[in-house]
Amino acid sequence: MSIFPSLFFILLGLFSPVDCYNFPYESVQLQDADVANFSAIAFGDLTKPTNLTSNRTTCREFPGSAKWPTENEWSRFNVSLGGALVKPLPPGAVCYPGPNYDSAKCDFLLNNASSTRFYVDDPVTIMTKWPQGETCYPETNPANGTCTQGGFPAYVVNASSVAQIQAAVNFARNKSLRLVIKNTGHDFDGRSAGAGSLSVWTHFFKGFEFLPQYSQGNYTGLAARVGAGLETWELYQFMDDFNITIVTPGAGTVGGVGGWMAGGGHGVISSSYGLGADQPLELQVVTADGRFVTASPTSHPDLFFAMRGGGGSTYGIVTSAIIKVYPRIRVTNTMLSFQTLDAPPPNIFFIPGQRPEPLAIIKNLTTFWHGVDIYFAFTKEVAAAGGAAYSLIIPFSDPKTNQSGFNFFMTVRMPNMVEDQVIHFFQPLFDSLVGIGIAPLQNPAPTSPINWGPARSGNGARPGNSRFATRLLPAKNWDNATLFLETTKAIRATAENGYTFHGVSITPTEKVAGYPGNNAVNPAWRATLMHADVFDYNDYGVDVEQIKDAHERLDGVMNGLRAVSPGAGAYLNEADLQEPGWQQSFFGSNYEKLLKIKKANDPWGVFWAPTTVGSEGWEVRSVDGWPSQNGRLCRVG
Ligand SMILES: Cc1cc2nc3c(=O)[nH]c(=O)nc-3n(C[C@H](O)[C@H](O)[C@H](O)COP(=O)(O)OP(=O)(O)OC[C@H]3O[C@@H](n4cnc5c(N)ncnc54)[C@H](O)[C@@H]3O)c2cc1C
Ligand SMILES: *[C@@H]1O[C@H](CO)[C@@H](O)[C@H](O)[C@H]1NC(C)=O
Ligand SMILES: *[C@@H]1O[C@H](CO)[C@@H](O)[C@H](O)[C@H]1NC(C)=O
Ligand SMILES: *[C@@H]1O[C@H](CO)[C@@H](O)[C@H](O)[C@H]1NC(C)=O
Ligand SMILES: *[C@@H]1O[C@H](CO)[C@@H](O)[C@H](O)[C@H]1NC(C)=O
Ligand SMILES: *[C@@H]1O[C@H](CO)[C@@H](O)[C@H](O)[C@H]1NC(C)=O
Ligand SMILES: *[C@@H]1O[C@H](CO)[C@@H](O)[C@H](O)[C@H]1NC(C)=O
Ligand SMILES: *[C@@H]1O[C@H](CO)[C@@H](O)[C@H](O)[C@H]1NC(C)=O
Ligand SMILES: *[C@@H]1O[C@H](CO)[C@@H](O)[C@H](O)[C@H]1NC(C)=O
Ligand SMILES: *[C@@H]1O[C@H](CO)[C@@H](O)[C@H](O)[C@H]1NC(C)=O
Ligand SMILES: *[C@@H]1O[C@H](CO)[C@@H](O)[C@H](O)[C@H]1NC(C)=O
Ligand SMILES: *[C@@H]1O[C@H](CO)[C@@H](O)[C@H](O)[C@H]1NC(C)=O
Ligand SMILES: *[C@@H]1O[C@H](CO)[C@@H](O)[C@H](O)[C@H]1NC(C)=O
Repeated sequence: MSIFPSLFFILLGLFSPVDCYNFPYESVQLQDADVANFSAIAFGDLTKPTNLTSNRTTCREFPGSAKWPTENEWSRFNVSLGGALVKPLPPGAVCYPGPNYDSAKCDFLLNNASSTRFYVDDPVTIMTKWPQGETCYPETNPANGTCTQGGFPAYVVNASSVAQIQAAVNFARNKSLRLVIKNTGHDFDGRSAGAGSLSVWTHFFKGFEFLPQYSQGNYTGLAARVGAGLETWELYQFMDDFNITIVTPGAGTVGGVGGWMAGGGHGVISSSYGLGADQPLELQVVTADGRFVTASPTSHPDLFFAMRGGGGSTYGIVTSAIIKVYPRIRVTNTMLSFQTLDAPPPNIFFIPGQRPEPLAIIKNLTTFWHGVDIYFAFTKEVAAAGGAAYSLIIPFSDPKTNQSGFNFFMTVRMPNMVEDQVIHFFQPLFDSLVGIGIAPLQNPAPTSPINWGPARSGNGARPGNSRFATRLLPAKNWDNATLFLETTKAIRATAENGYTFHGVSITPTEKVAGYPGNNAVNPAWRATLMHADVFDYNDYGVDVEQIKDAHERLDGVMNGLRAVSPGAGAYLNEADLQEPGWQQSFFGSNYEKLLKIKKANDPWGVFWAPTTVGSEGWEVRSVDGWPSQNGRLCRVG
């Protein structure tokens, strides 16, 4: 046989652009000519993976390390990217003494940035401060401190084409660099940051195309092509434009196809339409060898399985997806609140300004907690009707009397119900509460929830600093009266210990998920009735021991929730970075299969982020002693 056909096919296989793509930016793919000119961006060979650390130190290269790319190499890399390489400082640098000080820009950060899109549009900012090491935030008394890059990346590829992402993956692999992926930076655990890393920023992948008639396998219906950089509020805009419904995250600036989808992704209509990870019919992906592939039920089915629920930053970089969409529906909202103190209620972070009137003051704690239990029991009916119930139990104190107490707040989203139906549906809950003496209460006129309809906005995201832990409480706990009381007691203990409790009551079963199914969503999600979030708002300061103690206290109350849900799990996107046994908690029985897929598709470990599948062999040696990303990534041991 002549060598020609095989050589032809090898070349075609290696270097011809993939012609299956959703948007023009995906037609620009890495060419053999680009590689020939600069071999450090050559593709990897999955069949002969080089050990990236065998001839180096046991760490990824780091600014200043012996084999960190030279200025000349960075500059050639930048040329290969068409100039898309940026080297951003932490935004807070303008507030610190030194050459970057700029009082006007610092004033803007201190007074105005938080109400604009500044932080979402910044190439490095992440929305939780501690994983960066808090080395340069404008809020941290800048007059004295020094500003360092901390856990922010060294370089960022401001991607506007697939070719640039391919070059970045290849360059990082070839040079043994730490590679991170940042979309919106909302990850609570620092998975979109990393000291000394090269970051791929997917922010500008904003394509959208509505597909009124789409068929794949057993699915025929509405669908849409969505770019990896789209945020919730932008998806809402398209929902209006095309008169459709999309399963999206709750908050306006979380990404719709990035870490939210990859990690599961709950939303206000998840009891009716499933999780974010249940929506894709097809994903476009740059893999660890630098290739651009389509993952679907029939193409790279292993990647397609893993990348829907098996976590972000692990198997590849999604550039776009084709997702299921639905006919336009109405979603209606109602509210309920009561508290133990006759004092101004605490601020409710996710719906500022919205308050039911009148607010019942229930000084008897027994009655207060009984009311909370009645609400929790009722959430089963909300989810069964396709709705989502969000509750908060907030410990707070009266500034006048210094007395401390609790505020209970509920807001619900009811898809496909009009106002009268919602009032009727919730009346039994209000009746039961009034029946035990929680009064005055009024079943209010339902409204259109914020972020559903015209109230959406892409403004106002800013870094917070809370720590999280979560438990996906099984629905079966609601079916056994003893176990139910044990469950609500464990919930009560979180608030009694000073934490804010946030319950997300939804039932995203496999049945509502529908086609194409067979994904890596944590099995605990399929059996849950409540994603039980515990927020620790305490400011940890900088003291390592203080941070350890605070974490131990948080873990202590979580043990109460774990005790009533043996074998269940936790939602990896809103979780404790130090979750014990995270492999089981975050991935359940899928873990072994996911690990095999990870090793087969990324034998180099190019993609790494804490508590992702296959991340065990590596750790960040943080300079602050925190579980932060402010340090070099090295092999464990
Ligand atoms: C204010 C707020 C509200 C939230 N509301 C919800 C909610 O309603 N429901 C819910 O389920 N969660 C919610 N979350 C949690 C959210 O799911 C996580 O923060 C999630 O990680 C955000 O994904 P992102 O792509 O927007 O952010 P990023 O921080 O940019 O990315 C998160 C992770 O995914 C990886 N990643 C991002 N893009 C890609 C890509 N294209 N390919 C591969 N990997 C990628 C990153 O490397 C990182 O590991 C909320 C978080 C915040 C801060
Ligand atoms: C090759 O790289 C050099 C810079 O190193 C650049 O000037 C030139 O345009 C590149 N050629 C191609 C074909 O990319
Ligand atoms: C990196 O690329 C160079 C060519 O520039 C090649 O010689 C080397 O083997 C590659 N290293 C790895 C680890 O792939
Ligand atoms: C790669 O090299 C490192 C450092 O020498 C070693 O610890 C590791 O086990 C090697 N990995 C493989 C897969 O051989
Ligand atoms: C790594 O070192 C081994 C043994 O010293 C050598 O055979 C091999 O060629 C080196 N590999 C690279 C990529 O430099
Ligand atoms: C990359 O090249 C562009 C265009 O030449 C330039 O503006 C930019 O500063 C370069 N990036 C870095 C990090 O040098
Ligand atoms: C910035 O914030 C300050 C203080 O709140 C306010 O007075 C000013 O009007 C704001 N400026 C802009 C441009 O919004
Ligand atoms: C900050 O500066 C003030 C005034 O110079 C000084 O009193 C204070 O000790 C400094 N604080 C720190 C933490 O350095
Ligand atoms: C990133 O690229 C976009 C164009 O795709 C450009 O509008 C934006 O200013 C760039 N941002 C940075 C920080 O380079
Ligand atoms: C499609 O439906 C058939 C019949 O119900 C079923 O056997 C098959 O598994 C389905 N295929 C997929 C990919 O879901
Ligand atoms: C929007 O879609 C809904 C549900 O399919 C339909 O009832 C309604 O007439 C549509 N509205 C417009 C303006 O097309
Ligand atoms: C609180 O209410 C419970 C139940 O109605 C009752 O048994 C208890 O005596 C009340 N406690 C106080 C201090 O009034
Ligand atoms: C109900 O829950 C309790 C407490 O966890 C347990 O001891 C009991 O066996 C359960 N009953 C049933 C019927 O499952």
